[in-house]
Amino acid sequence: MSGLEKSIHIKTFGCQMNVFDSDRMESILVRQGYRKEADLAKADVLLINTCSIRDKSEHKVLSLLGQLKPLKEKYPHKVIGITGCVGQRMGRALLQRVAHLDLVMGPDGVERVGELVEEVVSRGRRVLETSFDNQKERSYSQPAVIDKVRPSEFLTVMKGCDHFCTYCIVPFVRGREKSRPIAELLDDVRRFVDRGTKEITFLGQNINTYGKRTGESLAELVLCTNEIQGVERIRYVTSHPRDLGMDLIRQFGQVEKLCPALHLPFQSGSNAVLKRMARLYTREEYLEKIAALRAARSDIALSTDVIVGFPGETDQDFEQSMDVIREVGFSGAFLFKYSPRPGTRAFEFGEEVPDSVKTERLAHLQEVCFGKIHEENKGLVGSTVSCLIEALDKKGRYYTGRTPHGKLVHVLNAGEACIGKILDVEVTEGNASNLKGYYVGAPRQDRTRDSEKAVSA
Ligand code: SAH
Ligand code: SF4
Ligand code: F3S
Repeated sequence: MSGLEKSIHIKTFGCQMNVFDSDRMESILVRQGYRKEADLAKADVLLINTCSIRDKSEHKVLSLLGQLKPLKEKYPHKVIGITGCVGQRMGRALLQRVAHLDLVMGPDGVERVGELVEEVVSRGRRVLETSFDNQKERSYSQPAVIDKVRPSEFLTVMKGCDHFCTYCIVPFVRGREKSRPIAELLDDVRRFVDRGTKEITFLGQNINTYGKRTGESLAELVLCTNEIQGVERIRYVTSHPRDLGMDLIRQFGQVEKLCPALHLPFQSGSNAVLKRMARLYTREEYLEKIAALRAARSDIALSTDVIVGFPGETDQDFEQSMDVIREVGFSGAFLFKYSPRPGTRAFEFGEEVPDSVKTERLAHLQEVCFGKIHEENKGLVGSTVSCLIEALDKKGRYYTGRTPHGKLVHVLNAGEACIGKILDVEVTEGNASNLKGYYVGAPRQDRTRDSEKAVSA
């Protein structure tokens, strides 16, 4: 049987890279004749694109798989597949453990998803594909064909990671770093812009070293993108404090369309912990980078990731993370309890911090960190921010977008026609996780610098 008339549903967990990969898998399967089905339970082929970063992320996947068992028993012709990072990490063991699973593949299988699904559909075989594609330097060649215009697009520019932070599963499930050539990426950016996209976010686990094996660089990619007409905003994630060089830092003060916002995870404020994490920088070096960023662009909005309860983390170590949070004043943060990942070095460290202590530290950190963010947001009430309207919020109440500084804004008087427009929004409410306000005047074209005065807090 061919893929014709059959339907497909892809459920995505994890980071933006998985979202990007899901779009690519969907494009490949649609090209092969599959129809998209919005309801997971109704689809003939159900793919779950998974995340392995914390134990909880894997639990979600395994529990969803459990829920799908009755469905597969009732409709044995349905194909159920696990793709992405859990597929890579658990591989054959997952296929053996879950009898109603037909396909397990890792992130490097994305471009072959068509053949792999076809093998299950036409031959009735159970398929495992977890080999890394180590042949090509380029990270992938097939961009997604997206039928929906998205004002803000993510573009994966590389894959893998060459760092081995001792807590992290990513290098094991995504392999070594590989970049796509700038010329190809710029073609993708132009295609996006031609369809109405205004903001591009380049994605890489360790984006600062983009192009290191091909002689290209992130600074060059940013400069070239800045030249493309129709691009209004440029961002990139995720930076590593060790690899964020002065060339990139200076660009925040020089490159017109580069947004004044940077996600720079510090993970821990204690040098002893940073060393055991193999992060390759000290707290002092991190703070120096922050100072340099602020010297380059005084209003830059900084966000970060922190892990609490890493093996051996003492109260004093934790206090040092609190200090960094108090000192820097981040505009956004992701705070995590350390989750041991089998196969990583930290998994063998012992000296586990009890969960109750992790919970307590996390709550304390959240209180201080989110309290500061709330203060910052309250300080914006009365100011006008520029906002690129992206979509209706999850609850279907307000059209939302982001400021150049990355603040999420709910625009109370915006309608569907505002999607893709850049609006001046007068802020009337500053909450812990968003701003609310009304747009004033007519929609206009944007320059990130226009709103410089908006975020002076
Ligand atoms: N490449 C990025 C993001 C990695 S994953 C970077 O280097 O920053 C996103 C975040 O998840 C990390 O920054 C880290 O804070 C968190 N994380 C990774 N592994 C974790 C683990 N085992 N337990 C808890 N948090 C983890
Ligand atoms: Fe993981 Fe570290 Fe690589 Fe980030 S830099 S993906 S935390 S190993
Ligand atoms: Fe998760 Fe894999 Fe992304 S582990 S965070 S989906 S790279």
